[in-house]
Amino acid sequence: TAEHIPELAALLATPATSLLTTLAPARECGVTPVDAAELVAYNHDWMNKYRGRSACVVKPKSTAEVAAVVKYCAQQRIAVVPQGGNTGLVGGGVPVYDEVVISLANLNKIRSFDAISGTLVADAGCILEVLDNHVAEKGYMMPLDLGAKGSCHIGGNVATNAGGLRFLRYGSLHGNVLGLEVVLPDGRVLDGLSTLRKDNTGFDLKQLFIGSEGTIGLITGVSIITPRRPSAFNVAVFGLPSFEAIQTLFPRVKAHLGEVLSAFEFFDAASMTLVQGHASQQVRDPFEAKHPFYVLIETGGSNKEHDDAKLSSLLEDLMENSLISDGVLAENETQIAGLWTLREAIPEAANRAGAVYKYDLSMPVDKMNELVEVLRARFEEKGLLGEGKMFSTVVGYGHIGDGNVHINVVADKFTPEAEAQLEPFIYEWVSEVSGSISAEHGLGRMKGEKIGYSKSDVSVELMQSIKKMLDPHRIMNPGKVSWRLPVCLLAC
Ligand code: FAD
Ligand code: MLT
Ligand code: ZN
Repeated sequence: TAEHIPELAALLATPATSLLTTLAPARECGVTPVDAAELVAYNHDWMNKYRGRSACVVKPKSTAEVAAVVKYCAQQRIAVVPQGGNTGLVGGGVPVYDEVVISLANLNKIRSFDAISGTLVADAGCILEVLDNHVAEKGYMMPLDLGAKGSCHIGGNVATNAGGLRFLRYGSLHGNVLGLEVVLPDGRVLDGLSTLRKDNTGFDLKQLFIGSEGTIGLITGVSIITPRRPSAFNVAVFGLPSFEAIQTLFPRVKAHLGEVLSAFEFFDAASMTLVQGHASQQVRDPFEAKHPFYVLIETGGSNKEHDDAKLSSLLEDLMENSLISDGVLAENETQIAGLWTLREAIPEAANRAGAVYKYDLSMPVDKMNELVEVLRARFEEKGLLGEGKMFSTVVGYGHIGDGNVHINVVADKFTPEAEAQLEPFIYEWVSEVSGSISAEHGLGRMKGEKIGYSKSDVSVELMQSIKKMLDPHRIMNPGKVSWRLPVCLLAC
């Protein structure tokens, strides 16, 4: 990379703050080389599972700079990795070897917000929570919400087609994104930042980039529709005796709450134990007794009395018919946040507990807990589960409303032996029930080669053709999603 540093620096208006490198030639162009430690955060992922060794991070401040850098890299056959907030859970945003990291962190301006239509246009590097606070001032909210909202970028959300906690109510980014500005792998800019709700002129090209995980273009701008922010929220958590009870509960809750239901999340007893023991903040269990399963429901509406009446009628029904073992209802904003923490703190607690193998799976709701049980039984039989064993715990949680279960298996450390206990067993099991091996996190480095478990050969061939057409030199995020294609790195 060293020989390319002066050229890269020349493409940036302020190289001193837009180029981070450990390489000495930096000095010649007014850039002070940084210590390797300063690049660590760009080289490893949130779980500390994947590590690259990039010596060069470019942080462009405009779309034009992104385009110039990508064009140069394409000409020189330099591989690049787009990186947003680096909160991805499949190793997609970190280099495999020494690719140049293009961080979107400096591309973080809100371009416009139309308070009549609720249309927001923002740079890809804007943090999701910042955008949500911005539109909140005008009575709107972002159509997605996730535990990583304080760090993840809207561009990263679009690139991974993130789902999140309110998908049940507001749906997929495939529906909410109105337009994208994308720097293509040859440096051309696809200016598709439309704010139109309806536009049937030809192919809807933006859809290709939603969920493409940085393998066919670098998203620099996003136009997105934001829904009205509810003025009244209610949150309740229920304790339940079995997973079957959750399946009885779900249609009942939908029938009572209808359009005001905005989340229906579940977690099991092992998740609750994990949060109590490992979350960074103290999280109080609101129940006196432990329950095998918990469900969190949220309502968001515009008339508090109306929502409260619906909720009371639901609670009456649940009590009368013994559909839940216990329940707590938040009475103020602090309690709402406290109950949400029980669910939102699970990923963080798992991460702090050890080396976490994460499986993000879609399947019919009645199957969602079966695999958790199958895994526990399998490991117990082999003497692999418990304190001091290969795996300390197996937890199940997720988005019931979307048929999306997250299975986290906590190990002492990441080892080929531990992975061999989990894969391909889990993928085969999911494929057998016609599920998806990636519901919302993407394929990244973890599952690129596993795509065949969820997609047909013809689908994979078509994707490869598109990749080949848009990125013939394979410079965009090599070693991820673009399975079967040889990796072209700086050396080649
Ligand atoms: P990164 O991690 O930086 O990148 C992710 C992928 O997108 C990489 O392949 C990268 O190359 C690519 N990319 C990033 N920016 C761009 C861009 N501008 N152009 C092109 N490609 C780009 N996900 C869910 O779906 N639902 C959840 O509920 C959820 N909760 C989470 C909770 C926690 C605590 C954490 C840590 C993660 C969670 N995630 C969840 C994972 C989720 O994928 C990310 O949080 C988020 O969408 C990624 O955004 P990011 O900016 O961090 O992207
Ligand atoms: C969640 O639902 O909490 C996220 O997808 C993150 C995770 O799976 O750990
Ligand atoms: Zn999730």
